Amino acid sequence: MLIALCSAKGAPGVTTSGLALALSWPRPVVLAELDPAGGDVLAGYGRGEMSAGGLADLELAARRGGPARHLDSQLLRLDSEGRARLLPGLADPASARHVDWDRLAAALAAVEDGAIDVVADCGRLRAEHFPAAVVHRAAVVVLTTGSSLRAVRAATQAIAELREREACLGMLGALVIGPGEPYGEREIGEALGVPVVGVLPRDAKAAAVLSDGAPAGRLFAQSALLRAARTVATRLIEFAAAHESRLTPPQAAVPASATTVGSSRVR
Ligand SMILES: Nc1ncnc2c1ncn2[C@@H]1O[C@H](COP(=O)(O)OP(=O)(O)OP(=O)(O)O)[C@@H](O)[C@H]1O
Ligand SMILES: [Mg+2]
Repeated sequence: MLIALCSAKGAPGVTTSGLALALSWPRPVVLAELDPAGGDVLAGYGRGEMSAGGLADLELAARRGGPARHLDSQLLRLDSEGRARLLPGLADPASARHVDWDRLAAALAAVEDGAIDVVADCGRLRAEHFPAAVVHRAAVVVLTTGSSLRAVRAATQAIAELREREACLGMLGALVIGPGEPYGEREIGEALGVPVVGVLPRDAKAAAVLSDGAPAGRLFAQSALLRAARTVATRLIEFAAAHESRLTPPQAAVPASATTVGSSRVR
């Protein structure tokens, strides 16, 4: 199943949350970095120790014969078991205009054989070259937001925009980062008119591991952020399952690749 994460504006933590979710996902998952502003995981969590063509190479390959055949070769391991893998995003955001999001959405659908999920970091909703085709196809579209008044206002407008555009076939939901600043889960759900599918706490230490490759201490896997991410992952799977059958045609599984990004072992 395909789950799309996006934000209204600012940087509420889409990439960090996507990574936390992928590392906590209870079954095989691909974190696809589709933010047209460029990928962050290799330079952040990966500390710039690895380079990979990722999305850009996939696009190039697609022009020569179809991305579904090449997707697996662009995936890097996020954990030692290869349960969570990464499709690295664009190194050069200028190349976003060349990406055929429709074609990519189909390629991502091809790895959704029921056993492999895709969590797509789609970046900011109003960005130029936003991957609307991927959002359109997702079983769940998750708007990531903070809990301040300005964050919730921006999120409310973004939800209205997603609805107006009829951009989503799947379910719309919100992921709240740092609840209680000052609004809580219930108030935010009411303001947005969509279910809050998850809540992640403010946890600067664990977030810095994910967003900037800070050293992962022994307790990283037990951090408040990772523990909450496990709960959110399970909930997202439940939400997505309701839409799965009509949105994700079954295809062949993607074999594991040999490379691992980041050094922290979550499981
Ligand atoms: N749960 C959290 N607790 C504390 N800090 C967080 C949390 N999530 C993210 N952050 C921090 O917020 C900053 C922005 O995070 P991130 O890059 O994930 O945002 P984003 O929404 O993907 O931004 P952009 O739209 O620019 O890609 C980073 O410094 C990250 O460490
Ligand atoms: Mg991001």
